[in-house]
Amino acid sequence: MNGKFSAPSPASPQTSEPAKKLPWRDTENTYGLVSRLLHWAMALLFGWQFMGMAIKLIVGRSPLTAFLVGTHRPLGLLLLTLCVARILWALYNRRRRPRYDASATGRLARLGHIALYVLMLLIPSLALLRQFGSGKAFSAFGLPITKETGVEITWMTAPADLLHGFLAWCLLALIAGHVIMALVHHYRLKDGILSRMAGSAAPSQG
Ligand code: HEM
Ligand code: HEM
Repeated sequence: MNGKFSAPSPASPQTSEPAKKLPWRDTENTYGLVSRLLHWAMALLFGWQFMGMAIKLIVGRSPLTAFLVGTHRPLGLLLLTLCVARILWALYNRRRRPRYDASATGRLARLGHIALYVLMLLIPSLALLRQFGSGKAFSAFGLPITKETGVEITWMTAPADLLHGFLAWCLLALIAGHVIMALVHHYRLKDGILSRMAGSAAPSQG
C-alpha cells in the first residue's frame, strides 16, 4: 500500500515481533480496540433498530412489537452519541489508521464509508429535530430529553416526516453492500481487510 501518511506510529506493528495483542488505538495495519468496540456495538444496535422497524411493518403494532418499538428512540439517541464519539476517535487516530489504497476500489470504499457516516449522523439527527418540534415529551434511559408543550413546530417535524424512514432504508441498503464487500474481501480476495476490524491484529499488507 502506498502511504499518504509518512511516519508510522510507535505503536504500529512494524517491528520483528508479531503484534498479537490488539492496541487500544488504531495502527496502519489494524483498527484498535476502541474503534472495533464502537464499530461492532453500533453494528448490533443498528441491527436491532432495523429488525424492530421491519417487524413493526410486517406484523403491525402488537404486544410482541411494543418492546422493540419502545426501544427505538432511546437507542437511536444512543447511536447518535456513539457516532459522534466514533468520529472524534477517528479524527484523533487519523494519522495512524489503516489506509485506503489509491485504486478506484479504494476510493469507492472511502466514499462508501463517508456515506455511512453521513447517514448515521443525519438519520437520528432529523428524528431528534422532529422530536423537539413535536411538542411531545420524550425521555431516554431515565433522562428527560424533551418536555410536553403541546405545540408542534412544522419546520422541525417536516424533514423527518419526509426523510427519516427513506434515508434509514437507504442506510440499510448501503450496510448490505458494505457487508457483502467485507465478505468478498475475506473469501475471494483474501487480502486481510476483514481482519483489520475482526479477529487478531491483521498482518502487514505490504
Ligand atoms: C440511527 C438510528 C435510527 C435508525 C437506523 C432508524 C430507523 C428507522 C426506520 C427503518 C424506521 C421505519 C420507517 C418506515 O416505517 O418505513 C423508523 C421510523 C421511526 N423512527 Fe427511527 N431510526 C433511528 C433513530 C431514531 C430516533 C433517534 C428517533 C427519535 C428520537 C426515531 C424515531 C422514529 C419514529 C417516530 C419512526 C416512525 C415514523 C417514521 O417512519 O418516520 N428514530 N426509524
Ligand atoms: C457483519 C457486519 C459488518 C462487517 C463484516 C463489517 C466489516 C467492516 C470492515 C472489515 C471494516 C474495515 C474496512 C477497511 O479497513 O477498509 C469496516 C469498516 C467500517 N464499517 Fe463495517 N462491518 C459491518 C457492519 C457495519 C455496520 C452495521 C456499519 C454501520 C452502519 C458499519 C460501518 C463501518 C464504517 C463507517 C467503517 C469505516 C471504518 C471506520 O472509520 O470506523 N459496518 N467494516
